[in-house]
Amino acid sequence: MISIRRARPGDAAAIAAVHVAAWRSAYAGILGERYLAELSEPRLAHFYHRAILDRREGHAVFVATAPAEEAPAQVVGFASGGRARRRGLAEGEVETLYVLDDFRERGCGRRLMRAMAAHLRAIGCNSAMAWVLADNPSRFFYRHLGGRPAMQEGIRVAGQSVDQLALLWDPIDTLLAATAPVPEGRLREGG
Ligand SMILES: CC(C)(COP(=O)(O)OP(=O)(O)OC[C@H]1O[C@@H](n2cnc3c(N)ncnc32)[C@H](O)[C@@H]1OP(=O)(O)O)[C@@H](O)C(=O)NCCC(=O)NCCS
Repeated sequence: MISIRRARPGDAAAIAAVHVAAWRSAYAGILGERYLAELSEPRLAHFYHRAILDRREGHAVFVATAPAEEAPAQVVGFASGGRARRRGLAEGEVETLYVLDDFRERGCGRRLMRAMAAHLRAIGCNSAMAWVLADNPSRFFYRHLGGRPAMQEGIRVAGQSVDQLALLWDPIDTLLAATAPVPEGRLREGG
């Protein structure tokens, strides 16, 4: 069974491993091969260790964990965010959301989005947004959860020009409603 909880500093290395695996899978063909090959788990672990401890601007990291045989539960996905980094679009922002390929389509993404939405509302955010690369098929996931395209702009990632799209939930209750727990009778097998 998948569980969602607030990340602890000891999760940083596992979160970094999910980041690298998810980026290599999600951004193949969108970002350069070399850049993806050179992603460094130790460097990212350091980054996430700091991110977990740094609670400024209501920043929070959540993990999805799955039971592992004769080992502590394995981190299979994570999300992070806080008050929006850029003013004007929304009050809160989901900055990252990644689930390992083998654990997709089991409700992890929705439950992580719900944890983020509940957290953002608890810190006083009345609206939320997320940036997604415009070519990333995951934009349809955000659309599926009611995210409304609000803005598109060009940015540079890894020396490359790409477009990013802002998805907006205003009010934030629209995201809470879209991520409400499914009644037990409707739970999918393995979910
Ligand atoms: C996007 C992502 C987080 C979704 O996670 P997930 O655990 O597979 O999503 P869930 O199982 O919770 O899906 C919830 C619903 O969204 C739907 N969904 C999932 N991915 C979808 C997609 N790419 N397009 C459209 N719908 C999608 C599911 O079918 C499910 O539908 P339901 O309402 O019928 O139950 C995951 O695919 C991922 O990590 N992608 C790569 C990383 C990435 O691009 N992240 C976003 C960066 S900004």
